[in-house]
Amino acid sequence: MSNAIVSIENLVKRYGENLAVDHFSLHVEDGEILGLLGPNGSGKTTTINCLLSLLQYDKGDIQIFGKPMRPDAYDIKSKIGVVMQNVAVIETLNVYENVDFFCGLYIRDKATRKQYVEEALEFTGLSDYKKYKPKKLSGGLLRRLNIACGIAHKPKLVLFDEPTVAVDPQSRNAILEGIRKMNREGATIIYTSHYMEEVEELCSRIVIMDHGKNVANGTSSELKNSLKNRETIRITLPNQSDDILRALKEINHVYEARFENDDVVIRCDGGEHNLVHILSYLSDSHIPFGRVITEQPTLNDVFLEITGKELRD
Ligand SMILES: Nc1ncnc2c1ncn2[C@@H]1O[C@H](COP(=O)(O)OP(=O)(O)O)[C@@H](O)[C@H]1O
Ligand SMILES: [Mg+2]
Repeated sequence: MSNAIVSIENLVKRYGENLAVDHFSLHVEDGEILGLLGPNGSGKTTTINCLLSLLQYDKGDIQIFGKPMRPDAYDIKSKIGVVMQNVAVIETLNVYENVDFFCGLYIRDKATRKQYVEEALEFTGLSDYKKYKPKKLSGGLLRRLNIACGIAHKPKLVLFDEPTVAVDPQSRNAILEGIRKMNREGATIIYTSHYMEEVEELCSRIVIMDHGKNVANGTSSELKNSLKNRETIRITLPNQSDDILRALKEINHVYEARFENDDVVIRCDGGEHNLVHILSYLSDSHIPFGRVITEQPTLNDVFLEITGKELRD
């Protein structure tokens, strides 16, 4: 706990009857890129807003940099960068002026600020757009401006709330690479997303959130190794019958077999030659089949096993 940058204990937040955050705990160590992964409505933004003291909460204990976080904890706030889910920039200012404005809330010295603003623009790939007003920017560039405004003052802790939603692939890659670079330069990151591939690619540790609860926590491989499911096999099957499902389930290590559209989807809990056994059964029984795909577990499978539902939209 000595290096905890963020510590949330038993956070509870209700909106009327709706329990948005349900005894949620989270600890983030110095230097981590912590991924907060959960479907829409699982409570990620509410948690971030409570963490920042932007929202009052019903219960819980929140510390940042080892000190209690409160609405008036300006010393803590000055070392935090926030990139909100909804883009918040000033329409009347151009790109450079926007970043300069937000940076100016923290950095008084003009020369230092100029350097920081230039670096933030460089960092987000916006150097060629300094004179553009936000209205003239594409969705991806606008997102990058939102990020530049949030990080220009070189915060020690940066919170990103779904920064890549509806962003083109080029901007997305620029954003992810920027976050990695920021982390290499010493910033601790909390990154919320409902895109599991992104969280898996970027984050050193992942917390999975569902219905306001912390339902799993670990590195991507720890989470996947904790699964019963070790291999999923999909086979296109033109003729489908319950007899086939029954026979498949009798094969060693097969614990689930079901039809999904034109495919039979078979889940195995280990074993080395599942595919061989399954295909032998099909050809021995003269059951015609088409395309065969075998998949290793994903974070979606982790989510599915814990919550019984898909993480995908
Ligand atoms: N301002 C609000 N008033 C009432 N309910 C809200 C408000 N903001 C969020 N909620 C509800 O709280 C739950 C969590 O929402 P949110 O924190 O936005 O989730 P996420 O960021 O994971 O998509 C959802 O059920 C949502 O409908
Ligand atoms: Mg959200």
